[in-house]
Amino acid sequence: MNILILNGPNLNLLGKREPHIYGHQTFEGYLAELRLKYPSADLEYFQSNHEGALLDKLHSRGFSCDGIILNAGAYTHTSVALADAIAGIAAPVVEVHISNVHQREAFRHHSYLSPHCAGIIVGFGLRGYELALQALLGQAER
Ligand code: DQA
Repeated sequence: MNILILNGPNLNLLGKREPHIYGHQTFEGYLAELRLKYPSADLEYFQSNHEGALLDKLHSRGFSCDGIILNAGAYTHTSVALADAIAGIAAPVVEVHISNVHQREAFRHHSYLSPHCAGIIVGFGLRGYELALQALLGQAER
């Protein structure tokens, strides 16, 4: 299974950024643990602060990988372009948010992406990426 983990803006700051909301762990550290735990899942990781770079990645891998785990950060709440890209690609996308966006400001309650995603995992911290991976691995087994 070839799975792309795609992180959007400000998620490069995990570990330093608002740790009371996002925790103290870096994404690189978490990813190393995930790779050890799921050796058969070929995990590709890409992070960008640029909407166009995220779009390009969805286009280039969206027809050639088995699934995508996407945390689009704030673009979740603003980007029709990312929504269109998810709708247009073949790979199933699981939307992940580290924090429970529904307990936060009202502008975080709406996602342009959710209607086009296979599923959504919200509020379980970094563990949400593992839950998304399990969902994608389980889908492939069916
Ligand atoms: C986030 C939630 C978004 O509202 C926010 O803009 C982020 C992170 C999360 O993982 O909880 O950057 O996607």
